[in-house]
Amino acid sequence: MQLNGARILLTGASGGLGGVLARELAQAGAALLLTGRDPVALARIDLPAGSDYRLLQADLTDAAGIDSAVAAARAFGTNILINNAGVASFGLLAEQDWNDIERILATNLGAPIRLTRALLPWLTQQPTAAVVNIGSAFGSIPFAGFTAYSAAKAGLRGFSQALRRELADSTVRVIHVAPRAIDTPINPPAVRALNRALGSATDTPEKVARHILGMLANDVAEGHIGFPERFFAWLNGCAPGLVDQGLRGKLARIKQHAAKA
Ligand SMILES: NC(=O)c1ccc[n+]([C@@H]2O[C@H](COP(=O)([O-])OP(=O)(O)OC[C@H]3O[C@@H](n4cnc5c(N)ncnc54)[C@H](OP(=O)(O)O)[C@@H]3O)[C@@H](O)[C@H]2O)c1
Repeated sequence: MQLNGARILLTGASGGLGGVLARELAQAGAALLLTGRDPVALARIDLPAGSDYRLLQADLTDAAGIDSAVAAARAFGTNILINNAGVASFGLLAEQDWNDIERILATNLGAPIRLTRALLPWLTQQPTAAVVNIGSAFGSIPFAGFTAYSAAKAGLRGFSQALRRELADSTVRVIHVAPRAIDTPINPPAVRALNRALGSATDTPEKVARHILGMLANDVAEGHIGFPERFFAWLNGCAPGLVDQGLRGKLARIKQHAAKA
């Protein structure tokens, strides 16, 4: 897929991965419609001089936010939608607030489905188009302490695969990428401490952004970033009991860190 000249709606552009992704896409010659909720963070996105971009403040968990993003995306001539906005929460299910769980499901799963659905009649008219969904390793290796987030990201993976199959006779490609931990503000101190305790690798947003650009440029539909996460995603698909056993050994440490979240 050609990035030079592409016109991209990027959600979550005000965040840690989104800001870097915006910069890399602009460097590749794409024009950008950048959305987020925080206007100050949006205005701070560091783009190369001369970049072609617009900023749009929109909360994608409400209908008005979706409507304004869709209207702006049509006016912008968007041919690539990147569903990157997301929220996470670390804690044991019984101790999580229901409002928090609803927010996780609405932001990570409801919003991308709703935005994609509303923009599809436009995207299918474009000579080449793509929907890129930013999932998570936890969507393939559901993790204790992240039940709602894992459910939302597993749902996003299922949505991406079903939509790809539904659009197989169209000009719209559907890409799903599952990063492992990234060094961004979505991870509070308790999650960073857990990752250190478990020896879980953390990638830079630059590495993840370049991986996503590579997938787009080379028409790669599915990707996990990092090993051993790629291996465990495969293992969880064919022998989830083995992953249950492996995670059982980490449960005490997960609970210990969740208590501090
Ligand atoms: N960091 C990781 O460890 C990691 C690992 C795997 C996958 N991911 C995924 O990568 C994506 C980017 O996350 P990140 O690490 O960059 O997190 P981040 O720095 O916290 O950024 C999250 C972005 O989502 C936006 N957002 C949140 N709720 C929103 C809503 N209701 N409406 C519109 N925008 C909303 C935020 O906008 P405002 O700040 O303007 O509100 C922000 O731009 C997410 O989908 C995340 O699940 C992250």
